[in-house]
Amino acid sequence: DQLRNIVERMPKAELHIHIEGSLEPELIFAMAQRNGVSLAYPSVEALRQAYAFTDLQSFLDIYYAGASVLLTEQDFYDMTAAYLARAHADNVRHAEIFFDPQTHTARGVPFETVINGISRACHDSPVSAQLIMCFLRHLSEEEAIATLEDAAPHRDKFIGVGLDSSEVGHPPEKFARVFDRARELGLHLVAHAGEEGPPAYIRNALDILNVERIDHGVRCLEDPLLVERLVREQVPLTVCPLSNIKLRVFDVMGKHNLRDLLDKGLVATVNSDDPAYFGGYVNDNYEAAFEALDLDASHAKQLARNSFAAAFLEPEQKRAFL
Ligand code: HPA
Ligand code: ZN
Repeated sequence: DQLRNIVERMPKAELHIHIEGSLEPELIFAMAQRNGVSLAYPSVEALRQAYAFTDLQSFLDIYYAGASVLLTEQDFYDMTAAYLARAHADNVRHAEIFFDPQTHTARGVPFETVINGISRACHDSPVSAQLIMCFLRHLSEEEAIATLEDAAPHRDKFIGVGLDSSEVGHPPEKFARVFDRARELGLHLVAHAGEEGPPAYIRNALDILNVERIDHGVRCLEDPLLVERLVREQVPLTVCPLSNIKLRVFDVMGKHNLRDLLDKGLVATVNSDDPAYFGGYVNDNYEAAFEALDLDASHAKQLARNSFAAAFLEPEQKRAFL
């Protein structure tokens, strides 16, 4: 129909996509074969059938297992090129892509192998693409600091740092020093907060880590004072509708709060998070939310505007995309 056409065709930015979460089962099997890595699943179908999650941790366990096939620079290049081709088909004009170096360096893959492969695919794509390096919050702050040191020689290849993995029990304040250090390096700062964690994690990500955007942030609506602040300061929220259903943040899409976030004047955006695991790329996320929440063309335009408003781009670059 017409609304679907508008959503599909409008230029958009994607700001919450974990590149390891774009690795499709077919590519996992191809890489396992070419690298001689053995998998716990006999087939693509068996792996896909294991994608039945009950919460964030049940997803993370299988997501880290999938990433274990990535060994060479070409693997990182191929994964990233596949995502960018798919994003381009969805009319994504600009992507800010998360990567998780610690998932790979812990297996003996050098940091430079990871970043060089991902970065080269970004350069080769017609999509404007930038990288945000995430620290795994279930690991220590010392390990995050060591990762930032590993990354220092590659400072020109990424624009910011983020915080992902198991949220509850690993609050933002655990990473105060490494975020201070990243800020001194002139990096942009973001953090996952308020996906499974409480509103206090969103507030502390702002006050203690000084982040410029909140990834997910959907639990902010539990705290009206926080909502008031997020609106006043126009702090963007990178919302991921299909992820939130698959990880049971909301029971069904009809119960998702995206429409409320927009109605309250929050700078919400729509993103895919881990498209290979959650059943869709960015346009699938728009379409699932639009259908269930009865959103219209004005919401579509607002979400596209928000996606560029929230991007780490210069004003004239943003204008050129819209
Ligand atoms: N939350 C936390 N960590 C993650 C996610 C997420 O949605 N996706 C990949 N790592
Ligand atoms: Zn995420």
